[in-house]
Amino acid sequence: MSRRVLITGATSGLGREMALQLAREGCRLALSGRRRERLLSVCRDARSAGAPEVLELLGSVGDAAQVAAHYAQIKRRWGGLDWAILNAGVGDSKDARQFSAQNYRWTFECNVFGAAQWLEALLPDMIAARSGVVAGIASLAAYRGLPLSGAYSASKAALVTLLESTRVDLRGSGVDVVTVSPGFVKSELTDRNPPGSMPFLLSTEDGAARIIAGIKRRKRLVHFPWQLSLPVLYGLRHLPDALYDRLAARLRRSKRPDPKAPR
Ligand SMILES: NC(=O)c1ccc[n+]([C@@H]2O[C@H](COP(=O)([O-])OP(=O)(O)OC[C@H]3O[C@@H](n4cnc5c(N)ncnc54)[C@H](OP(=O)(O)O)[C@@H]3O)[C@@H](O)[C@H]2O)c1
Repeated sequence: MSRRVLITGATSGLGREMALQLAREGCRLALSGRRRERLLSVCRDARSAGAPEVLELLGSVGDAAQVAAHYAQIKRRWGGLDWAILNAGVGDSKDARQFSAQNYRWTFECNVFGAAQWLEALLPDMIAARSGVVAGIASLAAYRGLPLSGAYSASKAALVTLLESTRVDLRGSGVDVVTVSPGFVKSELTDRNPPGSMPFLLSTEDGAARIIAGIKRRKRLVHFPWQLSLPVLYGLRHLPDALYDRLAARLRRSKRPDPKAPR
């Protein structure tokens, strides 16, 4: 039987593209998102691309009851999952000088609690089957507190740690946990960034293909592109705090919108 794959946040960007690439491989897909028309459209496209069966999971990963109902639907139909790609994510640029706890709540609700909610629903069956792969889409932004991105960086750092703890707890259970940390990939999320501010920007197709390749190899950590991941993981992450603060202050000045610029 063909692979049973969940992708959360499949209505645009990386999620949508992964759905189409996996559809071409003949996977059965359960796709989630909040925007109804977009969800119906990606499900239609996935069927035309070759997915033998596609489940439409309309709703937010932040809604515990909805996630439980969505997993119940998957379980009734397929008995469980082979892959779960926890991809749904949000983020925006906010200056800590106008600190907003609500912005943190909104970001964590999707990026952290959304993933946790899905793990609670799907892990017991994967563990019982002694098989399955869970991939969480984190970010290279997880590895330092980036300027103007406090909530996003903190949520992805929390996700990286959540996935790591889950991986070590599940060692030997037959269930693998993959942490994916992309650099910049073209999507609705990055379309909001100023042009020229995203070094080594990848196409959505390339980003999605690299994630799928990493999951197939059941790699613990998938980071890309190397031109950005190597400096972040082996340089920036270990830079002494005083040096990092100075560098980040410079980055902050270059990222801050010019108040005199036309809107
Ligand atoms: N693009 C990059 O450069 C980059 C880099 C590092 C990490 N990432 C991560 O990659 C993942 C995909 O992002 P993307 O770049 O492809 O951005 P995107 O095009 O904005 O896609 C985000 C997806 O998440 C869904 N989503 C948001 N909130 C949701 C919620 N509460 N419940 C269910 N679905 C929700 C959105 O669908 P609805 O609005 O329809 O719900 C959409 O399908 C995110 O986790 C992002 O943080 C992206």
